Amino acid sequence: MKTIVSGIQPTGAINIGTYLGSIKNFVALQQAHPDHHFFLFIADTHALTVPQDPVKLRQAIKELAAMYVACGINLKQTSLFVQSAVSAHQEMDVLLQSFAYMGELERMTQYKDKALKQTSGIRASLFTYPVLMAGDILLYDAEFVPVGDDQKQHLELTRTIAERVNHQFPDFFNVPKPLIPELTARIMSLQNPDQKMSKSDPNVKSKILLTDDAAIIKKRIRSAVTDSEGTIRYDANSKKGLSNLIRIYAALENRTISDIVKRYETSDYQTFKADLGDLVASHLEPIQARYHSLLKSQELIDILNDGQAGAEALAIKKVQRFKKKLGLGLNR
Ligand code: TYM
Repeated sequence: MKTIVSGIQPTGAINIGTYLGSIKNFVALQQAHPDHHFFLFIADTHALTVPQDPVKLRQAIKELAAMYVACGINLKQTSLFVQSAVSAHQEMDVLLQSFAYMGELERMTQYKDKALKQTSGIRASLFTYPVLMAGDILLYDAEFVPVGDDQKQHLELTRTIAERVNHQFPDFFNVPKPLIPELTARIMSLQNPDQKMSKSDPNVKSKILLTDDAAIIKKRIRSAVTDSEGTIRYDANSKKGLSNLIRIYAALENRTISDIVKRYETSDYQTFKADLGDLVASHLEPIQARYHSLLKSQELIDILNDGQAGAEALAIKKVQRFKKKLGLGLNR
């Protein structure tokens, strides 16, 4: 069975950056690869790399699960589960710690950025997090891993770890390939187009949440930072803010950048932003309706239980085989 694996951390409300960089892409990939099985999960153990309120974390896990389903992933083709419920992820993490080097982890830019923002109490898990992520992927022998651009370096490390294990135990892991969407690899903050739109950004104006109502969505887009040139054209260097909005537009309509630019070349920013506001709001409306009904339903719990069973069926065997290869325990 060919597999595709990806995860999202339940660390705050999902924004349109995460949606366009990952979830929307999962749905498209499912149509493009009907013969692949998807292991999609809520990366709750990863969330513990920074302090969490347990009540809020549990709620965020549920909300993220509902959002995956509401966004239209095909459940027949997917095992959707909560990472911590499949303890093989923790086991694989511990085993792979012995196949990653300190120097490699020290080079991870996401670790360096996050550690810089914290003055003290940097958790060891923040440092070793890319190894847990490598385990998430290698457990299922993923062929492809669809992620946004910020996860590229973690994917490279995953490949290095897989190759290192394979050097000792030939062909033990499939070496996965990242799938990074061209248009939406990095959706930027609406307030600072030099920064990625981020779940952890405290500035509410910097992002659109998938649960925002139409009025808020339109307001956020109206107040998005652009430039004073006034012409609608794409230039990711000198017109970062506007180009980011053009990419969002193109991705939601499944069109190219030049299609959108052509349509608006004689228009002004106000008209373009108003249309984009309508487009985002109408795209999210059915997702929100499904999301709210799922949150209240038993259906969500059943989906996660099924997903867990599907994941465990593969993951437990893989971790047991790995332990055996490594010479752990007695060969009974
Ligand atoms: P996380 O939760 O930070 O983000 C989830 C996914 O969304 C993408 N993304 C974006 N893409 C484009 N523009 C943005 N502004 C944007 N913000 C987020 C991320 O690249 C990611 O694909 N470590 C991962 C979760 C994880 C994982 C895994 C992913 C854990 N184990 C195994 C793949 C495979 C993370 O923190 O993603």
